[in-house]
Amino acid sequence: MPSTPPINLRPFLETDTEFFAVMATDKRVTRFIGDGKSWDEQTIQERVRAALQQDPFDAVGSSRWFLATEANEPVGIIVSTRKEDGIEIGYWVSPIHWGRGVAGVMVDGALATIPQAYGTKKLIARVDPANTASAKLLIRRGFILETNHEGLDHNALV
Ligand SMILES: CC(C)(COP(=O)(O)OP(=O)(O)OC[C@H]1O[C@@H](n2cnc3c(N)ncnc32)[C@H](O)[C@@H]1OP(=O)(O)O)[C@@H](O)C(=O)NCCC(=O)NCCS
Repeated sequence: MPSTPPINLRPFLETDTEFFAVMATDKRVTRFIGDGKSWDEQTIQERVRAALQQDPFDAVGSSRWFLATEANEPVGIIVSTRKEDGIEIGYWVSPIHWGRGVAGVMVDGALATIPQAYGTKKLIARVDPANTASAKLLIRRGFILETNHEGLDHNALV
């Protein structure tokens, strides 16, 4: 693995929608997300709107996204949502940047900020076991497999 890229995380803005939309309409990216299909325009707009809504951190469903940049260029996003049993995180990296350690650095940044923001240490991540890179990065960061539901591994960091 090349040396760790310097990645900056900042709150997602409406002007980042186009960068997100390019990933959400790329089947390589959505392969292990939801039903695996690329997202339509309406779904993209709904999710972005929810992410920008800034619901209170203690409300179930409250969501915050972060844009990851490298040398001021967007490379990925971190998504986070409060669920009943913890804060669910997700991470998407633009395919041209895969395999460089970007997701690992993004998740390290998320682990350093998200628990404080939501006021809880319990983070969860749902991963398709076939998504090797995603599963590996969670294991390396201490996530533990709690259960498998409808084909997805439910991992938690407590
Ligand atoms: C999953 C994803 C985020 C990984 O991003 P990435 O920047 O390529 O990941 P990294 O380079 O940080 O690598 C993470 C780990 O996977 C390993 N890895 C990377 N690419 C791999 C591959 N093709 N096959 C196997 N392992 C791989 C790395 O070696 C690293 O493991 P290590 O920490 O034990 O060394 C990226 O492929 C992606 O955005 N996929 C689409 C969205 C998605 O599925 N998100 C996850 C579900 S929420």
